Amino acid sequence: MTGTRTGVGRALAEHFLAQGHTVVGCSRKPTTIDHPDYRHHEVDLTDTRALKSMFRETRREFGRLDALVNNAGTSNMNHFMMTPESVARDVFDLNFFAVLNCCREAAKLLQKSPEASTAILNVSTVAVPWALDGQLVYSASKSAVEQLTRVMSKELAGFGIRVNGIGLPPVRTVLTRTLPEGMVDSLVARQAIKRMCTMADIVGPVEFLISQQSGFVTGETLFLGGVN
Ligand SMILES: NC(=O)c1ccc[n+]([C@@H]2O[C@H](COP(=O)([O-])OP(=O)(O)OC[C@H]3O[C@@H](n4cnc5c(N)ncnc54)[C@H](OP(=O)(O)O)[C@@H]3O)[C@@H](O)[C@H]2O)c1
Repeated sequence: MTGTRTGVGRALAEHFLAQGHTVVGCSRKPTTIDHPDYRHHEVDLTDTRALKSMFRETRREFGRLDALVNNAGTSNMNHFMMTPESVARDVFDLNFFAVLNCCREAAKLLQKSPEASTAILNVSTVAVPWALDGQLVYSASKSAVEQLTRVMSKELAGFGIRVNGIGLPPVRTVLTRTLPEGMVDSLVARQAIKRMCTMADIVGPVEFLISQQSGFVTGETLFLGGVN
């Protein structure tokens, strides 16, 4: 699971550890999780060599993966006219290219799993279906991830690997801390279920999508809160 120091990634890692799973996580800064079955890698996922080395160490220690959750992500909330190319490239480096690279490395280890099917889960956002203004670069990078989910589901099906996504509405984390309160409220008001999404709302669907219960589901991005 990527991006486990804070927010959604940390909540998910703690949930699966509490269920008795072993979790390998990463972030640029030191871990905030203290559990005997948790392994942390301090890596910047935009550094491809460091990313590959994390998967090499995982192979050495565990020999396999049963699931990969591509959670680490960054946003840039700004009018595109005010967004320099370097910023846009940085967002794509983490939100798209690091996901692509994690999938490539993880696919080799997922094939070593004894599970009937293994899973990749990519985290997306309502900013894609809602085409939110001020979020062009962020939503375009996540849109690319949703397309990756669809195409990769076909390319990896023959290896018993399912590829799905989860589309999140606003959740209170570091990522949304800087958003004006009014903006969060207006996004919540667009949801069919008009309350803020919590970590508890996310863990169930994630667990479903990476477990054998969704063994015949692939290429889908499941949006929470009712966004249509
Ligand atoms: N919060 C929301 O409202 C919301 C809504 C829709 C979708 N999402 C998506 O949910 C996912 C998680 O978001 P969040 O809100 O939980 O964000 P967050 O609290 O900012 O967490 C991001 C995590 O990723 C790690 N990270 C950031 N850059 C990294 C890098 N270059 N290399 C390795 N790790 C890195 C961070 O740790 P370090 O800083 O130590 O690297 C942190 O653990 C993201 O993909 C986001 O787009 C969030």
